[in-house]
Amino acid sequence: MGLISPTTIDRILDAARIEEVVGEFATLKRSGSSFRGLSPFTQEKTPSFYVVPSKGIFKCFSSGKGGSVVTFLMEHEKLTYPDALRWLAKKYSIEIEEEETSPEQEAVRDRRESMFAVNAFALKQFSEWMWNDDQGRAVGLAYFKERGFSEETIRKFELGFHLDGRNSFAKSAEKERFLPEFVEATGLCIKRESGDLIDRFWGRAMFPIHSLSGRVVGFGGRVLRNDAKTAKYLNSPESEVYHKSQVLYGLFQAKQAISRANKVYLVEGYTDVISMHQAGVHNVVSSSGTSLTLEQIRLVKRLTEHVTLLYDGDKAGIKASFRGIDLLLEEGMYVRAVPLPAGEDPDSLARSMDAESLNTFLAANEVDFMRFKVEALTEDGADQDPIRRAEIVRDVLQSVAKIPNAILREVYLRDSAQRLGMEERSLYAEMDRIRGAELRNNAPRRGDQDSSNDSPSMVLQPPQAPRPLAVEEALVRVLLQFGSARVKWNGPDGLEQEDASAALILDDLSADELEFSHLPFQALYAEMLAVWQSEERILGPEHFVRHADPSMALTAAECLTERHQLANWSRKNIYIGELEDQLSLHVYECLLRFKEYRLEDRIKTALVELSTLTDEDARDAKLVEFMRIQTLRNSLRAELQRVV
Ligand code: CTP
Ligand code: MN
Repeated sequence: MGLISPTTIDRILDAARIEEVVGEFATLKRSGSSFRGLSPFTQEKTPSFYVVPSKGIFKCFSSGKGGSVVTFLMEHEKLTYPDALRWLAKKYSIEIEEEETSPEQEAVRDRRESMFAVNAFALKQFSEWMWNDDQGRAVGLAYFKERGFSEETIRKFELGFHLDGRNSFAKSAEKERFLPEFVEATGLCIKRESGDLIDRFWGRAMFPIHSLSGRVVGFGGRVLRNDAKTAKYLNSPESEVYHKSQVLYGLFQAKQAISRANKVYLVEGYTDVISMHQAGVHNVVSSSGTSLTLEQIRLVKRLTEHVTLLYDGDKAGIKASFRGIDLLLEEGMYVRAVPLPAGEDPDSLARSMDAESLNTFLAANEVDFMRFKVEALTEDGADQDPIRRAEIVRDVLQSVAKIPNAILREVYLRDSAQRLGMEERSLYAEMDRIRGAELRNNAPRRGDQDSSNDSPSMVLQPPQAPRPLAVEEALVRVLLQFGSARVKWNGPDGLEQEDASAALILDDLSADELEFSHLPFQALYAEMLAVWQSEERILGPEHFVRHADPSMALTAAECLTERHQLANWSRKNIYIGELEDQLSLHVYECLLRFKEYRLEDRIKTALVELSTLTDEDARDAKLVEFMRIQTLRNSLRAELQRVV
């Protein structure tokens, strides 16, 4: 099949209606200009899945996935990009025009196909040698069995054995009439100056490396002789079909499990993947042979955004984890890690336990990246030394600064303040500095797709004065001094409304079931609200000044002094003469600020709850709630910045 022509792609994307397409996989209800429903990616109970037709996007808050109609199909149906386009073309009855390919393109494709054919033959040959040849059984098969791999596992990963001798494979490939050019190109053989081909992997146990779709792109080979001075593992060289940085070992065998578990374990080597798999943990991949790359992250991101690192506990392993963590965070992944006992790797760990205890161990020891970093950095008591401690704080913040989503960044920033015993405020300042420097260093930044959530200046600024109590007092002052004065505001229907200021305040706060935190204010408000709701009457200041309860009278008296000034924090001093014009704005601002503080309290509570929840689903649900409150709080802040 040729390439889909650009004009066809345009026509497909023009015709595709995202709400219709998504509607085939999820039940959506209209909510304003968007649609909402239960996520087709998770088992959620409260709908947090949105489709916004005007922007042509979907966003799933429970899985974190989001994107266009094409990415939806790629995610949900596990289609490639061209197949997603073909799916849409079929649905919208658009005829696909394919582009003519040039002879050069044909040649490149033929060459790649020939190399794939050599690899496919090699796979069969190595397997044949291991299962049926005497040497293969005695050396290759015996080795894998000694390692504890079952026959089922060996077949599943298509492991094999490469016969000894200088050119066993070269000869068998020649017999099959593969052109030497292509055999050499795969790296299975090396061309001597004489022109002869000799084998690269002779005498080794063979681990085939598959592409996402299951084609063999290369091999890893482990030496089996103890006396060998040669490298323990050899890998196929880079070639037209094998780009190390774009392949994850085990992904082909793990993809369904990853998507089902919505999580992937990242380990270091072939044997780690296979042993974990055999122990029943199937969602495991490895970046064998290279350190983790962006392309590899993007490969798994199609299946999940949750990554758990399982690296050796030694210095090199921790260093590799730290590097991986930052890269993963930068790509918007949710990163966790399981610290391993000294001297263990996932392979030895998986072999030392049965499936159940392995699962229990992983679940019990998994920590978010922040805790992993803090604990790894403070292991030797470094946090006792103030200078080292400052370095640790910086190091942790450097990682947090990589998170593209502002909300998540803030969650972690607060968390790190708690964990490191630092003032949130100073961490905000440091974070601004780091991010500022980063933005200057490598603008434009990648991965900031979620710009609706991301307005750093707004989220990062801690609220300015006034203090919460001052806002409450300002509201009580309005209630007492100007309760009957008219104010104007825009109602939910967008139309301008007018009423007594007390009516607005009482109705608005009671609709949201909000209360004052300062008890004397709460008592005064409750009494006013009761009378307003039962008799539609606004209690005047004289009622409270002469109140039977002396503390109520005192509160009222205090709020009635300084009559000429509404609130001492107001930047524009508002005098009675200008009051009529300014009161509406003032009340509106006070209500916004009051709500912001209340939401802030709920955010704090949710954060504490979040850090105590160990159950993954409960945590995710709490995180969604948390993000919802935070979004609300942020929109209040945005509105405040607009009006003030
Ligand atoms: N590895 C590699 N290259 C090396 C060493 C290791 O790619 N030179 C990778 C392999 O993928 C291997 C993993 O790291 O599966 C674990 O390394 P190691 O424990 O040294 O390999 P094993 O084959 O388990 O050797 P041993 O039996 O000595 O533990
Ligand atoms: Mn090992």
